Parts: sequence; structure tokens; C-alpha cells
Amino acid sequence: MAFIGSSTRVSALTLLYAIGSLFVGSSSALPNNTVTINPLSYNVYGSNAVFRNNTFANLFNPTNTTAPFFQVFDPSFLTVLGDSPSFRVIASNPGFAFAHEAPIWVPSTQELFFASAAGSPSGFSDINHNNQVAKISLNDVTTAIAQSSNATAPVNVTVTTLDLPDTVQMTNAGTGPYNGSLLLVNSGRGPLPPNLVLVDPANPQNATVILDNFFGRQFNSLHNAKIHPTSGNIFFTDVAYGWLNHFRPLPLLPNQLYRFDPNSGSVRAVADGFVLPNGLAFSQDGSTVFVSDSGMAGGFIGNNQTGPATIYAFDVDPQTESFGNKRVFSYIDGGVPHGLQLDTAGNLYAGTGDGVEVWNSQGTLIGKFFLGSSSSEMLFIGNGRLIILAETKIYMVSLAAEGLDVDYPQGSSSDSQDPSGC
Ligand SMILES: *[C@@H]1O[C@H](CO)[C@@H](O)[C@H](O)[C@H]1NC(C)=O
Ligand SMILES: *[C@@H]1O[C@H](CO)[C@@H](O)[C@H](O)[C@H]1NC(C)=O
Ligand SMILES: *[C@@H]1O[C@H](CO)[C@@H](O)[C@H](O)[C@H]1NC(C)=O
Ligand SMILES: *[C@@H]1O[C@H](CO)[C@@H](O)[C@H](O)[C@H]1NC(C)=O
Ligand SMILES: *[C@@H]1O[C@H](CO)[C@@H](O)[C@H](O)[C@H]1NC(C)=O
Ligand SMILES: *[C@@H]1O[C@H](CO)[C@@H](O)[C@H](O)[C@H]1NC(C)=O
Ligand SMILES: *[C@@H]1O[C@H](CO)[C@@H](O)[C@H](O)[C@H]1NC(C)=O
Ligand SMILES: *[C@@H]1O[C@H](CO)[C@@H](O)[C@H](O)[C@H]1NC(C)=O
Repeated sequence: MAFIGSSTRVSALTLLYAIGSLFVGSSSALPNNTVTINPLSYNVYGSNAVFRNNTFANLFNPTNTTAPFFQVFDPSFLTVLGDSPSFRVIASNPGFAFAHEAPIWVPSTQELFFASAAGSPSGFSDINHNNQVAKISLNDVTTAIAQSSNATAPVNVTVTTLDLPDTVQMTNAGTGPYNGSLLLVNSGRGPLPPNLVLVDPANPQNATVILDNFFGRQFNSLHNAKIHPTSGNIFFTDVAYGWLNHFRPLPLLPNQLYRFDPNSGSVRAVADGFVLPNGLAFSQDGSTVFVSDSGMAGGFIGNNQTGPATIYAFDVDPQTESFGNKRVFSYIDGGVPHGLQLDTAGNLYAGTGDGVEVWNSQGTLIGKFFLGSSSSEMLFIGNGRLIILAETKIYMVSLAAEGLDVDYPQGSSSDSQDPSGC
């Protein structure tokens, strides 16, 4: 990878931008692999310029910097990054999208779980072939890094595939741990139902299905979930992507969001009106929820750039937990938004067509983890470490930000055993 060299190549440009009023005060000492983009420098392209005409194929990289790098649009992103942020590939498998979504971190064993791309040729998965759930050991990562020659060279730790029961079909997402178990969100395959499943993270990884229908009707294909930080109820998106990717029958329900109370068994819709709802995340106190709509990406129907690539914010009703007061939080400039996470400063992170994009709580784009290719999900694993799933690669980013806990009960799998210094 040549990004250290390319950072040097653009340094004159970044210094020029740093002189712009927006970046006064952030001075000249930018971290490695960091490019600042002053919005004023791209407001006018000019009539003879080459404009972007495809949000998926032409990403916004006006400095032509070699990926991966940190693209800074607002000085507050430098606070997210800290003094010496870095990218490192910790596992890779060229040609196999083994790391699509479903990152779950279990601090007590320092294991990271994730799933391959379901229903996709790059994931070797289709209506006849289930996708895989696998794990890596972060202790292996620590060991490999200690033996590595330099601060950014890739390492490639062993990926161990889980042997899960047949009730787990086409895992698209995961969160938790919930009461110590992995919470897997499964799309179903052919006639096999979409479901929510709790899986023991320890061998032999037994699984318990906790929901597979809405009053007797199958869901379309469950896509993503989060546990509400205070109530412990499970919120999830259901969307037509299983059908749009040729592995589920025609949808028979709207594309919408549900709340499931695993204690009472109650399941209810909490928000509709989406084209293709995708990921979700709650604010720290659970009073606001963010939901991505990737309606621009229509599977076999094709991409239509007039569709949504939009993250909406809602208020969560304190009594009913229904979602109200929908408003546009941000519209994505690179591909579509997928999974969402927040940090403790209230910044929102979204997997997008160009990597991971970050907005502050006011909906201002502050920066990107620019990979030059898509990421569907990311996860903080203890303070100062962000995992980015990038299909054929897993990146670990060292940075200053701290992620919100996504486990339940909150803090039950806290990072007290987290060895620092990765
Ligand atoms: C998009 O831009 C490319 C490169 O300039 C051009 O070849 C292509 O025809 C354009 N497509 C559309 C739909 O305008
Ligand atoms: C980036 O590449 C494009 C296309 O080759 C070129 O027009 C543009 O001037 C380059 N920008 C920089 C900052 O090098
Ligand atoms: C930037 O990279 C160089 C070369 O690898 C390294 O010597 C230096 O310590 C790095 N600086 C920071 C702030 O990480
Ligand atoms: C990493 O290891 C896996 C498993 O041995 C292998 O398939 C893959 O090609 C390796 N990645 C690289 C970049 O060599
Ligand atoms: C560190 O590793 C990166 C990625 O392999 C490589 O491009 C770079 O040249 C290495 N730097 C040093 C100082 O060896
Ligand atoms: C999770 O744990 C709580 C507290 O022990 C318990 O009340 C609840 O029933 C558990 N939920 C599930 C789905 O096991
Ligand atoms: C796994 O099996 C153990 C032992 O029967 C049981 O206590 C636990 O609840 C099971 N976990 C899941 C997630 O099914
Ligand atoms: C894109 O979507 C718009 C709005 O639904 C529709 O009018 C248009 O025909 C679509 N374009 C294509 C190429 O399908």
C-alpha cells in the first residue's frame, strides 16, 4: 500500500486548505494519511469540469489520494481521529466477501464475530447456499501486530467459521451481546423463515430462535437490529432485499421497522414509509433513533439515483417506543448508507459506498474513513479501536473516539479486559 507516499504527495495541497478560514487553528500538524477538504474549494467545478454522474462508481476524492485515508471535512473530525490515527488490515480474503455485516464483540474472550455477504456471488451465497458466520480472535491480532514490521502493514489472522444449526439462514446482521448471547438477524432463505436468534458465543454455539413471524406471517427478510439501551427491547428492520437478491419469495409485508419485547413476546410495527430501510442506531439515552434508507440500491431491479440514500432521525416515544417526528438527518454522497453506530460525542458513523462516513449530532458531514470501496458495517471494540468490515477485508482503525455500548444490559460486556495498545 502506498498511502504514506500519497499523503506526502498531497501535503502541499492539504496545507493550502489548512490556510482556509475553516481550518485556521487546526494548524499544519495533520496526522499521517489525513487529507483536509475545505468545502469552499469544491463549491464551483466550472462548466468544463468532469462532474460525478454515478454515486456508486465515481467516489468523491478531489485530491485523488490513494485509499485508505482519513478525509476531513470539518476540524472536529481531527478530535475523532486523535494525534496518530492509523488503518490496518487485520484479515483479508481476496475474492470472498467474508466480512459483510453482523460485527459483535465479546470482550471476555476478545472475539469478534461477523457474517459473509448473504445472497451475493462475492459471498458465494444464493438461494441454495447459506452464508457463513465466523469469528477472529483479537488476541491473535495483538500477537500478529506485535510481530509486524511496521505500524500499518497488513496482518492476516485466522478466520474460524461457526458451525450453526439450520435455523440460522442468511445472517445479515448482528448485535449485542444480549444477556451474554450473540443476537443474529437472519434474512431467511427460500421458504425458510427470517428470524432473530440468540447464539451462545462459546462452543458448541447452540442457538435459540426468539422470533420468526408476525402473527403467523413470515417477515420479508430481516436486515438489521439494535437493542434499546434502557428498555432492552429489540428493534429491527425488515426489507425486501432477500427478494431483490433472488433468495426470498415476493415480499408480503411493508418494508418497515418493528419492536420486539422478548419478555412479553409482543411484536409491533414502530415506523413505516421507507423505500428500503437498512440499518439503525439509538442515541446514548435512547430518545433518538437513526434509520438508514438504501432505497437507491434496488438489487436486481437496479440502482436508481433518484431513490433515497438517506439517514432519517426520529424521536422515540418514551411510553410506546414508536418512532415519531421523522426528519432528514443526512443524505449520503457515496453510494447508500447501511449499518449505523454512534460514538460517545454523539457523532453518527455509517457504512457507505466509499467506506465509513461520519456526521456530528447536527447532521454535518465531518469526515470519512475513505476506503475507496464500500463498507456495510463497523463497530467500536473498546475505546480507541474501530473495526470496519469491508467485504474482502477487515480493517482495524486506531483513533481517539469512544463508541457507545451496544450490549444489553448496557456495560455487561464492558471493555475492562480490553488490552490496550493495538
Ligand atoms: C457519465 O460520465 C462518463 C464519463 O464522463 C460518461 O462516459 C458517461 O456517458 C456519463 N453517463 C451519463 C449517464 O451521463
Ligand atoms: C484528480 O484527477 C482528476 C482526473 O484525472 C484531475 O482532473 C484533477 O486535477 C486531479 N486533482 C488533483 C488535486 O490532483
Ligand atoms: C507518520 O508516519 C511516519 C512513517 O511511517 C512515522 O515515522 C511517524 O511516526 C508517523 N507519524 C505519526 C504522527 O504517526
Ligand atoms: C489470509 O489467509 C486466508 C486463509 O489462509 C487466505 O485465504 C487469504 O488469501 C489470506 N490473505 C492474503 C492477503 O494473503
Ligand atoms: C509499512 O507497511 C506498509 C504497508 O505494507 C508499506 O507500504 C510501507 O512501505 C511500510 N513502511 C516501512 C517504513 O517499512
Ligand atoms: C435477559 O436477562 C434478564 C435479566 O436476567 C431476564 O429478565 C430476561 O428474561 C432475559 N431475556 C431473555 C430473552 O433471555
Ligand atoms: C445454550 O445451551 C445452554 C445449556 O443448555 C443454555 O443454558 C443456554 O441458554 C443456551 N444458549 C442459547 C443462546 O441457546
Ligand atoms: C427512477 O425512479 C424514478 C422515481 O421513481 C422513476 O421515475 C424513474 O423512471 C426511475 N428510473 C429508472 C431508470 O428506472
